[in-house]
Amino acid sequence: MSIPECLNLDDIEQVATQKISRKAWGYYYSAGDDLISKTLNNTVYQNILLRPRIFVDCTNCDTSTTFLGHKVSVPFYVSPAAMARLAHPDGEHGIAEACAKYGAMQLISNNASQTPEQIVQGASPDQVFGWQLYVQTDRKKSEDMLARIAKLPAIKFICLTLDAPVPGKREHDERTKNVASNLPVRSAVMGDSPSAASTTPEPEGSGGVGKALFAGTAPDLTWKTTLPWLARHTHLPIVLKGLQTHEDAYLASLHAPQIRGIILSNHGGRAADTAPPAVHTLLEIRKFCPEVFEKIEVWVDGGIRRGTDVVKALALGAKGVGLGRAPLFGLGAGGREGVERVLEILKAETETAMRLLGVERARELGGRHVNARRVERD
Ligand code: FNR
Repeated sequence: MSIPECLNLDDIEQVATQKISRKAWGYYYSAGDDLISKTLNNTVYQNILLRPRIFVDCTNCDTSTTFLGHKVSVPFYVSPAAMARLAHPDGEHGIAEACAKYGAMQLISNNASQTPEQIVQGASPDQVFGWQLYVQTDRKKSEDMLARIAKLPAIKFICLTLDAPVPGKREHDERTKNVASNLPVRSAVMGDSPSAASTTPEPEGSGGVGKALFAGTAPDLTWKTTLPWLARHTHLPIVLKGLQTHEDAYLASLHAPQIRGIILSNHGGRAADTAPPAVHTLLEIRKFCPEVFEKIEVWVDGGIRRGTDVVKALALGAKGVGLGRAPLFGLGAGGREGVERVLEILKAETETAMRLLGVERARELGGRHVNARRVERD
């Protein structure tokens, strides 16, 4: 199947699966233990029903929105995901070029395979990036990175990931270890110099790319110590990623305005297996502490396959919707062009879903547009 022949994100994943190395596939596809959270992510939106209205003029359709005050053309964004060059030499910079074409925001992983400087190079002035941080046990490494990020005006905020102090047990990743690949499997970002894209092969017995990448990640972060430390080392707004309960969402909202947003996520099912899909947490927040939506932006990710999924998440109160594996598989299927196709398909599907629902602007989506009772019962 050629890229233009791919009609949906599953087609793209299929094409990529044929093309990329087994190692890349094992790393991207993998999730924790029995893939229960990953499977739930991929199916939960099917249990939310749309409530389309009639007699609504849908000549125009506006998918634009704002993230932390920055205008973007689409309400979905590229989630931080490590090691894009395992899929294709275009890497994270190729993803950035595709995002430029569709006015989409991109979050750059702490463990990206290109440096942040390389990734944002040539970005248009209105392009929006965030940089995702895994705080390192050696704090100096993270402090140096934050200082480098401060010099890149394209990067508008820091996204601090908190759901994976250690990686989940990812058996597809472990089983494909040490398969020959001449692409880097270690992070360029944490190398010694901005151009230090390591080509070190994954060490024998490392337990997969995931474990190798997490080797220096700090397990001792707390509300009390980490946020003041971060405030000392960045002036950028902060978004917390990986919240999985309404209690933590509420606590985060108490830290506004230092914290400007949260991402409800179970890390694509790659952290605690049987943790809930983001939609469950979104529904908890609606029920127990809806004031959170007023204080901070709430974004979600995990299992987004269709424009209807995007529309449902927005209707339930999410301001943004992240894509993790889809852009990586886009890269694997056809480099930058493959990522463009992912964004093109999802934008067109989102527009169709909005029109069929009777909604002219993405910003107008609300609880009245969905029936989530089947998920609420869980
Ligand atoms: C991730 N994710 C991730 N998250 C993060 O905060 N920092 C990271 O470096 C990575 N790396 C990473 C690599 C790969 C291969 C995957 C698949 C995922 C998690 C990611 O940001 C996002 O939360 C999920 O991938 C969303 O789920 P879907 O869209 O993959 O179903």
